[in-house]
Amino acid sequence: MNSNNPERIPRHVAIIMDGNGRWAEQRGMERAYGHVQGVESVRRVVKAATRWGIEYLTIYAFSTENWGRPTEEVSALMELLCENSMGEAPALQKAGVRMRFIGNIAGLSERVQKALRRSEAMTAGDTKLTLQIAVNYSSRWEITEMVRHLADEVKAGTLSSAEITPEVISNHLTTAGIPDPDLLIRTSGEHRLSNFLLWQLSYSELYFTDIFWPDFDEQAFDLAVKDFQNRQRRYGLLTK
Ligand code: FPP
Repeated sequence: MNSNNPERIPRHVAIIMDGNGRWAEQRGMERAYGHVQGVESVRRVVKAATRWGIEYLTIYAFSTENWGRPTEEVSALMELLCENSMGEAPALQKAGVRMRFIGNIAGLSERVQKALRRSEAMTAGDTKLTLQIAVNYSSRWEITEMVRHLADEVKAGTLSSAEITPEVISNHLTTAGIPDPDLLIRTSGEHRLSNFLLWQLSYSELYFTDIFWPDFDEQAFDLAVKDFQNRQRRYGLLTK
């Protein structure tokens, strides 16, 4: 409920990294080049989040809807994910950054699944920052899976419908055990949630910037966190 509080650090920041394609097209380049540059922004933001002492950073790398993009773009994104998750794992592990992939990972090719699982294993251990990367993710997929699991448990008699609480639901989502995001950042001037963490973002502060993701740097991230520090979070209550 505080405002102007430089002590208030968001524990969890979520980001919809948008505008890679437009950034590349503006430069007469292939859209995939925008994604390559977008990886540099991920590096910068991980660094900035570590500097702030943020504990969880969740980024939307590939949605279930992104399969509808041209094959070359989908392949380029999958390649970037494999290369960078494996390539960056040793440096991330050294910096105390743990990678965790959320989404329908079983729906990815065997090769990609293996790379993501290996990157998770390589960065498991002492953790300052958990970097959650949403791949083949959408909230509606996640919520559907959660309902199926709960229905199975009720059918098996291990759970009664009266025992289903918001906490039980949270514990059956891919983000189980991770606090909800305090701050959501979306780049590129779009003001939508695009099927991202719909349950988890219920009380998050939303921050929109016109900057395209490949241009998003540490300074832009700092501005978003400072903006968050000036917000009044009320959770449906009244201001004191
Ligand atoms: C949105 O821009 C961006 C994506 C769909 C992909 C973002 C993925 C990365 C930056 C790679 C992440 C890699 C690692 C290792 C974490 P857009 O293509 O929708 O842009 P547009 O709206 O301008 O078309």
